[in-house]
Amino acid sequence: MDSLSELKIDLRQMIIAIETTVDLVGMNDTNHAKRVAYIASQIAHKLGFSEEDNQYVFELGLLHDCGVSTEQMHSNLVNHFDWEDAHIHCEIGYNLLKSFKPLRKFAIPVLHHHTAFNKLKKLNLTERDANMANLIFLADRIDVTAAAHYETDILLARDSIVKNIKEYSGTYFDPNIIEAFLSLERSEAFWIALEDRHISRFTWDMGQFETSTVINMSQLKQLSLIIAYIVDQKSPFTAQHSARVGSLAKYIASRYGLSDEQCQKIEIAGFLHDIGKLRTPDNILQKPGKLTKTERSIMDQHSYETFEILRHVKGLEDISIWAAFHHEGLNGTGYPFHPKEKDLSIEARIIAVADIFQALVQDRPYRGGMSLDNVLSIIYEYVDIGKLDESVVKVIEKDSQKCFDIAKGEAEENKDSERPIIPWKR
Ligand SMILES: [Fe+2]
Ligand SMILES: [Fe+2]
Ligand SMILES: [Fe+2]
Repeated sequence: MDSLSELKIDLRQMIIAIETTVDLVGMNDTNHAKRVAYIASQIAHKLGFSEEDNQYVFELGLLHDCGVSTEQMHSNLVNHFDWEDAHIHCEIGYNLLKSFKPLRKFAIPVLHHHTAFNKLKKLNLTERDANMANLIFLADRIDVTAAAHYETDILLARDSIVKNIKEYSGTYFDPNIIEAFLSLERSEAFWIALEDRHISRFTWDMGQFETSTVINMSQLKQLSLIIAYIVDQKSPFTAQHSARVGSLAKYIASRYGLSDEQCQKIEIAGFLHDIGKLRTPDNILQKPGKLTKTERSIMDQHSYETFEILRHVKGLEDISIWAAFHHEGLNGTGYPFHPKEKDLSIEARIIAVADIFQALVQDRPYRGGMSLDNVLSIIYEYVDIGKLDESVVKVIEKDSQKCFDIAKGEAEENKDSERPIIPWKR
């Protein structure tokens, strides 16, 4: 056994990290999946589910919308009770979850979490999967119907919410599940608990519950890649950016002489460095020109968001800092933390160089991908002004064609990370 196998991460905490990442897509409309997880697990409790099934329902609720990475998709799902294109995010989520063994058990219910009860019965599903899927569908639609009333008049609105939901008993929803919901909703506490400040707390507490599965370094790598795909899907211009930054950073780290464990952790930090970008509006990410001051002020928040998500996962403390520092310069330029030079670790410096290098190689809305010579001359300008670490850039220079190929996705090193997890996207 090597030392790598010692890194152990609680899967529950990673599920919460995935949920928090996907939740950023909703911009100001937050905590949807946390509420669905809460509502579904409360109904499951009324239905007499075992403790294990209850925990499963909670995690399924957190993951159910992992196939949503654009604002447009998010708003259609929130604004329509039965959107005709809802199946798209179900299929994306299904494929993502199916590709990772520890989360595979959630794939089928996620695929059917917008399938009406009367159609579900005709499919060839196990009774358990069908029940789980319909429970999430109901919890999801309860939250969507209640959304306008949080922080204002939820206890006044509950009767009309319940009336609306009841009309779909037997068509969209299983009457047994509706019955359980009706006995649950009588308590005001159920509704009050849905407010943002309570639901965040509740989810946080559930994250401390350490009985779930533990994943190792190689599983963490796979899962990080899945999260990177969710982020990279948001914009065609950043497609594969995270995956390639991870591969390139790992390669530079190994040429720099860092240990195998450091190299693997750097790769993971590279995959995850931009997860906070899910909160940047699509029109800013895809703008074919210079950002205005206002747009820049929004864009510049993304690495803080990355930090905030990762730092809560026990075992990812150092990875969260390396990822969060990817826009920091040695000379104090950059954002958003402005660490002192001595606090910028070699791992963070490598990721910062890999990020810029890959971005310059790739097509962007405002310019095409650059040639190797141009990329190197820009990178050296950053060294000259004291922003990037010269020793890291020297490593690239010695092996520049190889680094260029990795950044383009055309090297042997890319083979593990260029796997098309979402086949219809690429
Ligand atoms: Fe959904
Ligand atoms: Fe949802
Ligand atoms: Fe970034």
